[in-house]
Amino acid sequence: MNERLYIFDTTLRDGEQVPGCQLNTIEKIQVAKQLEQLGVDVIEAGFPISSPGDYNSVIEISKAVTWPTICALTRAVEKDIDVAAESLQYAKHKRIHTGIGTSDSHIRFKFNSNREEIIERAVRAVKHAKRYVEDVEFYAEDAGRTDNEYLARVIEAAIKAGATVVNIPDTTGYCLPNEYGAKIKYLMEHVDSIDKAIISTHCHNDLGMATANTLEGVLNGARQVEVTINGIGERAGNTSLEEIAMILKCHKHLGIDSNINTTKISPVSRLVSSLMNMPVQANKAIVGRNAFAHSSGIHQDGVLKNVETYEIINPKDVGVEDNNIILTARSGRAALKYRLLANSVACSEENLDVIYQRFLELADKKKEVTDADILMLAGTNVSDD
Ligand code: KIV
Ligand code: ZN
Repeated sequence: MNERLYIFDTTLRDGEQVPGCQLNTIEKIQVAKQLEQLGVDVIEAGFPISSPGDYNSVIEISKAVTWPTICALTRAVEKDIDVAAESLQYAKHKRIHTGIGTSDSHIRFKFNSNREEIIERAVRAVKHAKRYVEDVEFYAEDAGRTDNEYLARVIEAAIKAGATVVNIPDTTGYCLPNEYGAKIKYLMEHVDSIDKAIISTHCHNDLGMATANTLEGVLNGARQVEVTINGIGERAGNTSLEEIAMILKCHKHLGIDSNINTTKISPVSRLVSSLMNMPVQANKAIVGRNAFAHSSGIHQDGVLKNVETYEIINPKDVGVEDNNIILTARSGRAALKYRLLANSVACSEENLDVIYQRFLELADKKKEVTDADILMLAGTNVSDD
C-alpha cells in the first residue's frame, strides 16, 4: 500500500505576497475552487491579521470551499491567532498555522531574543491556537539555517504543546538537497514525539533547489509538502505543486501518492498566471509553453516514430491536448512532412525535398515557421497533382 503525501497549497498566501500578484476576494475564490477540483488537501487562504481584505478572503473562501482544510497564517502573537480563528469560523475543516523564527539570525535581529525565550513563545502560540482549533500547524521560520539540535528541541516543544503538523521551512532557499533531507531525518530520529505530528516541507527557490529539497524532505519522512501553482512565491518562489505531483506520478516506485488530479494542472496554471498577471516562463517544467514542444530534427524524428523517445509525461496527464512539433531551422524533413500532413498536404518524397530546401531558406530568416508559411511554400510551385 502506497503512502499518502498531503498537498498544502500556499498560492493564495505565500504566492499572493509577490509584488503585483495581489488578488481580490472574488479572484481568490475562483482559484480556491480550482484548487479544490485539483484535489489539494489544504488551502492556505491568507494571513488574516495583515489586512481587512485578507481577513475577508479567508471568510469567503471558507464558505466557498468544502472539501480541503482551510488554513490561516499567524505570527506567534495572540492577537494574530484570535483574528485567524475568527476568520476561519465558516470553514468545515480548519487549521491555524502559527510560528516563529528559530535561526540565530532571526532570534537576534528580528526578535532581539534568545533561544529559550523563543521556545516559550512558540509553546504559548501553539497552546493559544489550540484553544480555537484541533488542527494546529507550527512553523519554525528559517529552519533551513537553524542548527538541528536546537530545531529538534523547538519541534519537540511545539508537538507537546499540541501541534499536529510541524513545518520546517527553508525560508531563504539556502539548503542543499542532502542537507535538507538530513535535517528531516534528524528530526524523525531525535524528536521523541514526532509520531504524534506530520512533518511538512516548505522550500523556497532562491538557488533553484526548492523541488529537489522538497523531494529529499519527503524521502526522509515528511508527509506534507507546501507548494504553489507555477512555483510563485516570495523572491524566486516556492516549490511548485505541478513538479511534485508529476514526480510522484512518474516515479511510482517511490510508493508515495497524492490526491492531485493531474489533468487539472494546466487549467489551474493558466488561471493563476492570468489572474496574477504573472507569465509562466516558456521552459518551466510541466506548465511552460515549451514543456511538450519538440523543435530539433533529431528529437522530432524520434517523437514522430514513438513519443517515448523524448517524452516522459503524456501531455494529456496534465491537461494539455497534445505535444507540439515546432518548425525551426533545426527541424528535419520528418517534421515538415508531419506538419504538411496535419494541414492535409500530401506530397511525394521528391516534392518534399524541394519544399524542404525552400523551408530551410525561410527558416534561417525566421524564429519559427508557421503552418501558413509551409502552406505557402507547398502551394506556390510544387504540386503533386
Ligand atoms: O518561508 C517561510 O518561512 C514561510 C513561513 C511563514 C511558513 O512562508
Ligand atoms: Zn515561505
